Amino acid sequence: MIPVSSRASTIEYAIRDVVVPATKLEAEGHEIIKLNIGDPIAYPGLPTPQHMVEAYRDGLASGNNGYSPSYGLPILRSAIAADETRKGWNCNVDDVYVCHGVTEALQIIFAATLEEGSKVLAPGPHYPPYMAYPQMYGATTIEYALKSDDGWCIDLDDIESKMDSDVRLLVLINPNNPTGNVAGRKEIQKLLSIAKKWPNCMIVADEIYDGLDFSGEHVSVASLSDEVPVFALNGVSKVYYAPGWRIGYMAIHDPTNVLIDVRDGIERLLRSRLCASTPAQLGYLAGLEGDRDWMDEHSSKVQSRRQLCLDRIANIEGLEVEAPGGAFYMFARLTDKYWSKNDKEFVLSLLHEEHVLVVHGSGFSPEKGVGHIRIVYLADESTLNAAFDRIDSFLTRHRLAKMS
Ligand SMILES: Cc1ncc(COP(=O)(O)O)c(C=O)c1O
Repeated sequence: MIPVSSRASTIEYAIRDVVVPATKLEAEGHEIIKLNIGDPIAYPGLPTPQHMVEAYRDGLASGNNGYSPSYGLPILRSAIAADETRKGWNCNVDDVYVCHGVTEALQIIFAATLEEGSKVLAPGPHYPPYMAYPQMYGATTIEYALKSDDGWCIDLDDIESKMDSDVRLLVLINPNNPTGNVAGRKEIQKLLSIAKKWPNCMIVADEIYDGLDFSGEHVSVASLSDEVPVFALNGVSKVYYAPGWRIGYMAIHDPTNVLIDVRDGIERLLRSRLCASTPAQLGYLAGLEGDRDWMDEHSSKVQSRRQLCLDRIANIEGLEVEAPGGAFYMFARLTDKYWSKNDKEFVLSLLHEEHVLVVHGSGFSPEKGVGHIRIVYLADESTLNAAFDRIDSFLTRHRLAKMS
């Protein structure tokens, strides 16, 4: 047997790992209600806007099928810079680098900033790549706590206690995946004042859900930083409902010009992987430049589905949730004693017995996510109701079995 690298053999991505048994059940003829994947296109009524699809198609038809410049089409970089500037900071076209989604931007940032022994401080629980990728560069991800009993807000004291000169990247996912928490101006200002004390520390501001803020509290991290360098991350996947296009960006806010060498490294890495998809960049451009009225209709659907889930969970014994302020996730607590320690078993048993697929909280942090499940609340109302009926009967049946 030819050995696999140790780097690859330890990578996990909980959100898709649970799909393997679900696919097997589907192959046996079962219909599965899937509330596991943060892809709005997988749910009815939330399509990619038509004008964006047309711009992508026109790009193909008019022969825009070649490589684009490595940092992105200038016209798209300029539209992104204008959009970031609207969020409150002076973003220039040269600050923007277009990638195959935020996921590639992250890989490039990690490759350009981390060394053996470096640390990444990321929220716990968090979106899994923040744990998986830094290891490839010899770095370690350390979790700072989100307060599970206080809307999953950031524990700033915990961040302060974990900062040291090895922390190169301090990550804020805002709104957060998987909890839906939205950090507001005051929390971000405090976070920046902590980071300021450590000159090698840069902030990764993953704002891919910023247009899905229902709290009214969201503010761009870059717009509040006058000293600490910030990588603002965003793209087409969530707010523009086109995750399959694989287009995102990093916009670098470097108020005191300390990232000249890091930028050079980022540019070298970007050139070495050629470019992001050219016609997909044209589709995103149409989204940024076009009318955004359509977003209200999509958002109101998302919010009414959010409310349905909150109402249902409030009436299910064995489930509790901190109401999320943004994104399209709920991180619900399993309150029955057994499940509170065995969330993965809960997910797999629920899948096999009731054919409902959610993700185990420990997949987002073995320590801080245990005893929770992540629910994507984008399905239509009747599907959500069916899923909650089944979750409710599953919890009741197992509670009775344990009592007898
Ligand atoms: C917090 C967060 N960042 C990034 C991504 C992926 O972004 P992209 O599709 O642009 O690679 C996701 C997808 O679920 C996410 O939840």
